[in-house]
Amino acid sequence: EEDDHQELSQESKEFLLTLPRNKGWRTRNLYLFQGFWCQAKEIHAILSFQQHFQAQAKDIIVASIPKTGTTWLKALTFSIVNRHLFTLQKEHPLLTSNPHDLVPFLEYNLYANNNIPGPSRPRLMATHVPFHALPDSIKMESNTSRVVYISRNPFDTFLSIWHFMSKIRPDELGPFSFEEAFDMYCNGVVGYGPYWEHMLGYYKESMKNPEKVLFLKYEELKDNIEFHLKRLAEFLGCPFSAEEEREGVIEDVAKLCSFENLKELDVNKNGKCIANFENKHLFRTAKVGDWMNHFTPLMVEQLSTIMEQKLEGSGLAF
Ligand code: A3P
Repeated sequence: EEDDHQELSQESKEFLLTLPRNKGWRTRNLYLFQGFWCQAKEIHAILSFQQHFQAQAKDIIVASIPKTGTTWLKALTFSIVNRHLFTLQKEHPLLTSNPHDLVPFLEYNLYANNNIPGPSRPRLMATHVPFHALPDSIKMESNTSRVVYISRNPFDTFLSIWHFMSKIRPDELGPFSFEEAFDMYCNGVVGYGPYWEHMLGYYKESMKNPEKVLFLKYEELKDNIEFHLKRLAEFLGCPFSAEEEREGVIEDVAKLCSFENLKELDVNKNGKCIANFENKHLFRTAKVGDWMNHFTPLMVEQLSTIMEQKLEGSGLAF
């Protein structure tokens, strides 16, 4: 408990006591705050983000729940938006910086450190916060900021979180089994979850307001990256020209941001980003359907039933 609360003010500690609490995945506890589960130290930063962030025209926000392809989408968005500033083949910032350093999280790198996003245009930022809890200025229809969301099949997402967590969970928190983690996941208890609510929040907004939110699926990007890069560039207001298409710029973006390319870069093998995480943990297998080798039939049935029930009637399926 102490570890989770060490750096918090007395007021924040007292506030935490009022929130529903559950065992955490890589911290002692998770707290149910504004309808989603998060760590004690994230709450203050999220409140600050909600209170102070002023969306501006052309802002771009990459949104996701952890382990659904955030790193990839950050790399793709950064490369597309800045393709006239940096050549894609050499001396590109992605060759020496991790995508998380180029597209900072609003609730970690920025508002957790009283670091207000700067004036560069377009501002490129990221968040794991669910749609309903984003600051009002982003959600206002009159505001022309854009939100790009990436979702992923909930089975592979679970597996990815599980592997990531098992690498970074501090030993002193004690054992945490695959089965226990799965039960928590099925109960919605996972950072920024329940996952179905997270994806539904962004999905519904993308249906209601397609100019504001673009909803992407990891599997579809894997299946046809060039088609989705065109969609993404159009949505972001910087479509590829016929000349760029002819010159292979779309393929160049895809190649630069590919798992195979990023994983082998020195910065991603040996570097660190967000809160001193080793970048290498962000790149595991990037496979679609790997869950089939890890789930018992009972687990498959359990999570499939939950997802079907939760997504029923929404038009969203995996
Ligand atoms: P796996 O654990 O299944 O391999 P996030 O970036 O949201 O943390 O998601 C991490 C997942 O995305 C990991 O999945 C990781 O391997 C995969 N990933 C990272 N970079 C990628 C890229 N450039 N292309 C495709 N997948 C990538």
